[in-house]
Amino acid sequence: MSGRLFAIVPAAGKGARMGAALPKQYLSLAGRTVAEHTLARLLSYARIQRVMVAVAADDPYFVRLPVAADPRVHTCTGGAERADSVWLALSALAGEAQDDDFVLVHDMARPCVRLSDLARLSAAATAADAGALLAHRATDTVKRAGDDGRVAATLDRAQVWLAATPQMFRCGLLREALTAARRDGVTVTDEAQAVERLGRQPLLVECARDNIKITRPEDLALAAFWLRRQQEEAGT
Ligand code: C5P
Repeated sequence: MSGRLFAIVPAAGKGARMGAALPKQYLSLAGRTVAEHTLARLLSYARIQRVMVAVAADDPYFVRLPVAADPRVHTCTGGAERADSVWLALSALAGEAQDDDFVLVHDMARPCVRLSDLARLSAAATAADAGALLAHRATDTVKRAGDDGRVAATLDRAQVWLAATPQMFRCGLLREALTAARRDGVTVTDEAQAVERLGRQPLLVECARDNIKITRPEDLALAAFWLRRQQEEAGT
């Protein structure tokens, strides 16, 4: 496959919605931290040459994890918003990654991503002209709310997808997209949104339902359940 592949993992969030003493990526999940599960998944995908983890400036935890000593794992300081952390990580990769290389951005808070989904995304993004992202089809009927808390519209469910990560792009395209969003003062909530603002259309790749983002306390138990199911499936 053409183009080397780098990974960026934004992990500089405080995880305020978890209401925990530690940031959510350092909470315990099936005997390891969430961060170790997530990074083990990415490191098991051999095409990834380097994983750049964006950590908060005052984070004392990451460096203590065994995975921090892996030679493929590097760190940089993250920023105020997720998009700032990704942009800083991309800047930290600038010496190594060429415009034609690929970068895959994955939330540290998604420890259950399957290797098979990584491989499908990688193949799709390599062939696509504007990158690709893992996503879930909406299964509920989706309402758009007005400011008054009433339903303003019902969206066509067949056309609604929920963006997940990883999201994968050529490094040059992602750099151009994030730089433009910063210049325009727009805080994007995922990388695809920044690319869309350039008038480009990233490809949606449907992923397994278990690629959940740990956001609220109950999500930890759900992630533990999915990891157990995956182990059973693998016969381990
Ligand atoms: O808050 P949310 O769950 O959307 O965060 C998604 C990912 O972005 C998390 O892994 C979080 O640590 C990261 N993040 C970051 N820098 C920020 C805010 C969030 O790297 N300023």
